[in-house]
Amino acid sequence: MIVAIDGPAGAGKSTIARALAERLGFQLVDTGAMYRAVAFESSASGVDLADAEAVAEIARSLRFEFKFEDGENVIYCNGRALHQEIRSAEVSRNASVISAHPQVREELVSQQRQVGRERSSVLEGRDIGTVVFPDAELKVFITASPEVRAHRRVEQMRQAGEVVDVAQVLSEIVARDRRDSERKIAPLKKAEDALGIDSTEASVDAIVNALCERIAELR
Ligand code: C5P
Repeated sequence: MIVAIDGPAGAGKSTIARALAERLGFQLVDTGAMYRAVAFESSASGVDLADAEAVAEIARSLRFEFKFEDGENVIYCNGRALHQEIRSAEVSRNASVISAHPQVREELVSQQRQVGRERSSVLEGRDIGTVVFPDAELKVFITASPEVRAHRRVEQMRQAGEVVDVAQVLSEIVARDRRDSERKIAPLKKAEDALGIDSTEASVDAIVNALCERIAELR
């Protein structure tokens, strides 16, 4: 079974996807972490992020795995665990830049399909329900107000030890949403048959419970 969870940055996707995958015993494929890893490795190799082919070459050289460890879903990139180093504001920005390259998306979408088919999975991202798994058994699109999303991101970044300013994070979130929604290939958008959820006021538990009920009906 495939559960597709899409939505903009900070909408609560990751928290909801993690809780859902743990409850169901499914693998959790964090596709944003894959774009982040490609951005991180490209910068580390001195590759020009505007050079689509060079970044795609980096993407093709990477293999990804996901493992739950101490309540965290850890991405392994060529056997190496990546943690906070891919969560900085700089990597967020760079991931959104390199994710607009068609060759990069082609490679990562193909790897996401491969990893997702290995076993029942929850995949979270921007284009899972529209492009990666349009036939997913359950598609969910999660949103929240930009202000709430900015506050959540600030909390995450503070925990990662970054000094951050709420107004700046809000303007970066709005800019990143615009880049992700307006790009030509696989833009961020709700699949027509996706269940829309607004997490501005609802608790994670209530949303996860509702999704588990939906999945039980599908089984
Ligand atoms: O979800 P997260 O914030 O970690 O994603 C980082 C960036 O990766 C997004 O801003 C987006 O540009 C890109 N992304 C994407 N398609 C996905 C997942 C993430 O383009 N399926």
